[in-house]
Amino acid sequence: MSLDAWAGEVLDGIRRRGTFRRMRVLSGAQGPRMVVDGHPVVLFAGSNYLDLAHHEEVVEAAARAARDFGCAAAGSRLINGNTELHEALEAELAAFFGCEAALCFNTGYMANVGVIPALVGPGDTVVSDALNHASIIDGCRLARAATRVVPHGDVAALAEAVATASAGGRRVLVACDGVYSMDGDTAPLPGILEAAHAHGAAVLLDDAHGAFTLGSRGRGTAEALGVEGRAEVLLGTLGKSLGSFGAFVAGSRALRELLVNTARSFIFSCALAPPQVEAARAALRVVQREPWRRERLAALATRLRKRLADHGISTEPSTTHIVPVKIGDNARTMEICERLLRRGFYAQGIRHPSVPEGTARLRLTVMCSHEQEEIDALADAIADELGEAA
Ligand SMILES: Cc1ncc(COP(=O)(O)O)c(C=O)c1O
Repeated sequence: MSLDAWAGEVLDGIRRRGTFRRMRVLSGAQGPRMVVDGHPVVLFAGSNYLDLAHHEEVVEAAARAARDFGCAAAGSRLINGNTELHEALEAELAAFFGCEAALCFNTGYMANVGVIPALVGPGDTVVSDALNHASIIDGCRLARAATRVVPHGDVAALAEAVATASAGGRRVLVACDGVYSMDGDTAPLPGILEAAHAHGAAVLLDDAHGAFTLGSRGRGTAEALGVEGRAEVLLGTLGKSLGSFGAFVAGSRALRELLVNTARSFIFSCALAPPQVEAARAALRVVQREPWRRERLAALATRLRKRLADHGISTEPSTTHIVPVKIGDNARTMEICERLLRRGFYAQGIRHPSVPEGTARLRLTVMCSHEQEEIDALADAIADELGEAA
């Protein structure tokens, strides 16, 4: 069978299951108002929560870096790619999160598939929440450690799994998202940390969506839940709230050295380009100077959840700027997504395998620069489309 015939068969199966995907085409700068597939819309999809991707200072920093340092690091950090810019960004991230050290990776995905195998291996165990991000799942696969998947947010089950796994005396790593990317709830971190540390297990907190947005200083989910600095490994991205590209891991100096020496996705990949590094540094300065961005983000997200609730629409279990409206059926979800697009709102429909079968949903993400009227109009339009207008 030719490759195309084989691909066709696979794609037919995907179409039959109602999970065929295509990429939409966006025009203009990343921001709250864009043109998507030719429609001018208010964007409620994406992770540019603090609206920094096209912030003047961030763009200027990237442009200056391109002029002064070029568009590529052109090599691995361990060969010719480690510039003073990378070192400065990592020092600034470590200071921001109150950690000894930080290390950048090229994406959050690459961070997880590098960090987890660096921390555990065959004979060890990862205790992983059932709704953890795909990159954590793939990191566990690459680590070839035993993976104990526990029901989402179930601290008792997690404690039991950690106790059992650690009885053998091997290393145990507990991995969780800070903010769950498809549900918008936060991990029960205080309980997770207590259960892990009671048995000598380390905790990897992937705060891709919580870092810079949650907590009074923007230090993320752990700060918001009063357990800042207690996870041994804090992972965040530069490509979401910071409006640049890349990721980082923050923790101890020993952790950084271990990763530099053993994390394959760090060692065998080109370093972040100077414009990305400098954009992230500029964005970090804005985050520290302008707390109003995360405060307004939280207020608008609360408003969206409330307006939907007023229409009788559940956004459970969200407590953050990621707001799911669960519909269930794949085709209906995508049809409503298309109809909203034509009404001037881009709220992406999400299906399996990004979410469990039968839980297809609109995933709404708020930005600090949305107008209240836009939030209200979105809630009204969704209610209308769901046929539940109050
Ligand atoms: C929890 C979580 N971790 C990791 C990632 C991957 O980050 P990146 O997009 O930088 O690869 C994502 C992306 O959405 C995420 O939601």
